[in-house]
Amino acid sequence: MLPFLSRIPSLHPESKLLTVWETLLVFVTLYNCFIIPFRMAFNAIIFDFWFLIDCLADFILILDIFLRFHIGYIDEGEIVKDKQKISYYYRNTDFKSNLLASLPIDILIHLFFPNTSLILMGLARIPRLLRFPQCFLIFKKWDNNVYFNSAVIRMFELLIIVFLIDHWIACLWFFIGNTTGKSGESWLQVKDLYLENTTTQYLHSLYWSITTLTTVGYGDITPQNNIELIFTFIVMFLGVSLYAFIVGNVAAIIANLDASKNRFRDKLGRVQSYMGERKIPRSLQKNVLDYYQYMWEYNRDISLDFELLDELPHSLKTQIYCYLYQELLEKVPIFQDAEPCFIEDLVTKLKPRILPPHDYVIREDQMGHEMYFVKRGQLQAFSEKTGKVYSVMEPGCFFGEIALLYDSRRTASVKTLTYCELFVLYKEDFDKVLENYPKFSERVKQIAEKRYQSRE
Ligand code: CMP
Repeated sequence: MLPFLSRIPSLHPESKLLTVWETLLVFVTLYNCFIIPFRMAFNAIIFDFWFLIDCLADFILILDIFLRFHIGYIDEGEIVKDKQKISYYYRNTDFKSNLLASLPIDILIHLFFPNTSLILMGLARIPRLLRFPQCFLIFKKWDNNVYFNSAVIRMFELLIIVFLIDHWIACLWFFIGNTTGKSGESWLQVKDLYLENTTTQYLHSLYWSITTLTTVGYGDITPQNNIELIFTFIVMFLGVSLYAFIVGNVAAIIANLDASKNRFRDKLGRVQSYMGERKIPRSLQKNVLDYYQYMWEYNRDISLDFELLDELPHSLKTQIYCYLYQELLEKVPIFQDAEPCFIEDLVTKLKPRILPPHDYVIREDQMGHEMYFVKRGQLQAFSEKTGKVYSVMEPGCFFGEIALLYDSRRTASVKTLTYCELFVLYKEDFDKVLENYPKFSERVKQIAEKRYQSRE
């Protein structure tokens, strides 16, 4: 068997085809989890072509057993199908339980003894439920997949668990009422549901199950004999833990929904308590909080960009920076007709900086170690000595280049007028860029020259 199997190509463990197949498997398993207890409890069928659907579901389960032999695993980026792994799966309990879960006993019974009761048919179908735990392994696999939204998967998982528990209890509640009612009084008799159609009976059972599990019920459907009473106690106890389970899970899902916002809020909390402990003046605290608010609104958490992007290979990092800094690159005139390799070289060297209004970026006469590009906001270059304003800089402008070009002190002060988003280029990177890209160097020098002269 093994040489034959190893000749068939392997399926990639993360392929779309496998995901579609697994989705189908989940639906088949959920169909079985729903229909088997229902048929046994209500001794009824929901639709006429049930036998066809059962056959199709069984066919999918049997096909899956063969497919499992062909799912490869990834080794150093390559997909390989390991004979050992195949034989391992073959001997493994998974295989045995899958095989047991797929034995079409009920179909054979129905074909040879068409009058067999649905309860007996359901009993023969119970091994199908062995596949149920596999659904959670599939959900876990999807949850680990970066392309899938884990909140949606977890919510779906939770809904399935809750609905199936409600459904199973509803089936059992009806079964108990139906069986005990034959020898005495039951909830079915009191509610006058014995002769009602299956849909009404099922809906009443489900209603009782949901209300008893989530609250203690409304008291309109009540236990009428000892067995019903005992069952009600059990369901009530179960309800308490199920309720805690639902609340805990929903809270965790919601908390994870906006993880980056929560991380940022945590950071803000730490900053707030730090400023409180150090007794920083209220007005200054407000400015700091306003700053964080601005940063969140326009840039989310920029520190995260560097933390996360640092791990990436250079080419991917460059592509991401080109995308992130696109707005700036479009605004700065001297970048517009630049060669692509210049832009790629420059973007990885730029560091974002956000500044509040009325903040000094550069002080006249100090030594300069960096230059700036304006992405958002307004700044003014002025002389602190004379008070003369040289220029108001807007998005797309750059400043701080004179001290770097001439290794001199700052020729003016630069102050923010509004909240500003700047990109910083440090001297060592600036020098490298000038050296490698003479065209850029020429244009920066021309502008610097003009500015220097216009001050006199
Ligand atoms: P730097 O001298 O390094 O620091 C102050 C910056 O203000 C300076 O570089 C220029 O970028 C900018 N600056 C100085 N004078 C003017 C001007 N007349 N017009 C526009 N910008 C100026």
